[in-house]
Amino acid sequence: MSLWGGRFSQPNAAEFKQFNDSLRFDYQLAPYDLQASQAWAQALLEAGLLTTTEHQQLHQALEELRVGVANDPRLPLQSDEEDIHSWVEAQLIEKIGTTAKKLHTGRSRNDLVATDLRLFCKAAGTELISANLAAIQVLLQFAERYQASALPGYTHLQRAQPIMAGHWALAYVQMLQRDVARLKETMKRLDVCPLGSGALAGTTAAIDREALAHALGFRYACENSLDGVSDRDFALDLLHSASTGMMHLSRLAEDVIFYCSGESGCFAMSDRISSGSSLMPQKKNPDLFELLRGKTGRVFGHQHALQTTLKGLPLAYNKDMQEDKEGLFDALHTYLQCLQMLTFAVPELSVNEAHARHQATLGYSNATELADYLVSKGIPFRDAHHITGAAVLYAQQQEKPLEALSLSEFHEFSTHISDDVYRFLELDYGVSQRKALGGTAPAAVRTAIKHASDWLHAA
Ligand code: ARG
Repeated sequence: MSLWGGRFSQPNAAEFKQFNDSLRFDYQLAPYDLQASQAWAQALLEAGLLTTTEHQQLHQALEELRVGVANDPRLPLQSDEEDIHSWVEAQLIEKIGTTAKKLHTGRSRNDLVATDLRLFCKAAGTELISANLAAIQVLLQFAERYQASALPGYTHLQRAQPIMAGHWALAYVQMLQRDVARLKETMKRLDVCPLGSGALAGTTAAIDREALAHALGFRYACENSLDGVSDRDFALDLLHSASTGMMHLSRLAEDVIFYCSGESGCFAMSDRISSGSSLMPQKKNPDLFELLRGKTGRVFGHQHALQTTLKGLPLAYNKDMQEDKEGLFDALHTYLQCLQMLTFAVPELSVNEAHARHQATLGYSNATELADYLVSKGIPFRDAHHITGAAVLYAQQQEKPLEALSLSEFHEFSTHISDDVYRFLELDYGVSQRKALGGTAPAAVRTAIKHASDWLHAA
């Protein structure tokens, strides 16, 4: 029996029912619907709308359902109820009869679903924060292992300056730290309970909404019933956090794909996380990282879809809002899965240290060092830049690296250059000079690892 059959003389057409029903996806809200219902039963008891016996019956039946769903989360799918709220009520009626029909006193599916979804998002947010922390931990281990391994650094995908592989990993640690902060911020905005807003105008039950909110672990009760039932900003905020987090995973994945490519060869993946080609026997493909990059698109899409669904909706609840769930569930699941895959995959990555170091010396990536050298001899940087550019062009024409130019060749460009220039052009020297906060010098990388580990321990 549906929750609202009284004013209808004909049953719903099967075609419409199938289109309208949401149980096939909102069954995932079952634990939260049961939790919210237990708190609501308690509020009704305190408001004098349930007797102690009725409350006990309801509480016990809800508890049994909680255990059932904990053992088998797909349990509700065995029925063809309209949605998870209908399923819970039908189950309660089956268990305790008439008393079950009192639970919906003073509440609506509108405030209930908004509450369920917020509880779901709070749990998902907590899980995503932990998953980010685990990913940060493996990135930090990578940074520690390769804190003094050179890697070519790029801008415009042109060789730019050598960096430490540890420095590269720490850049992603920074991004994931911001993702944690963003999720924590989102968790604050999630911490508002709409239960007790009724269908739209508030509840007739004399309940203490703040006590109810606290009983459900929320910090606040919403302050406007119309907004309470129709606000989905929290879901958008979480989707935004997921999108930005996925964007970071995607950029990391792209870097790994590139560093593992034949063109670079600076990184290697273990066989455990690589796939082959059905046709080309030599192939070792980075499918795992391509999937991290690829799955980013659908998370962005879900964010955009919900924002578009909400645009122009009149107050208060509209069935359009049922469309908030599938995309959100998929986005949060995808983001969590990708964080877990990244955490699994980073320890399976290695730096081909000798090769990467050699690569880092190519492409005139020590040209800035020559300019800095000239600056140390009193030449203004702009002139030093110009002189160095001319030297690079000459060296390129000679098909030699800068450090292979003789002193007399250097003198063609500046007589300020003397024997000590060769030390400046060595990779280790150049890198070690970038020791100010945030630089790639191994000493600075060590400090950064320490900062990030301290942060992780405190998180
Ligand atoms: N399945 C619905 C949803 O997800 C629950 C709320 C239904 N409310 C209503 N007035 N029809 O939005």
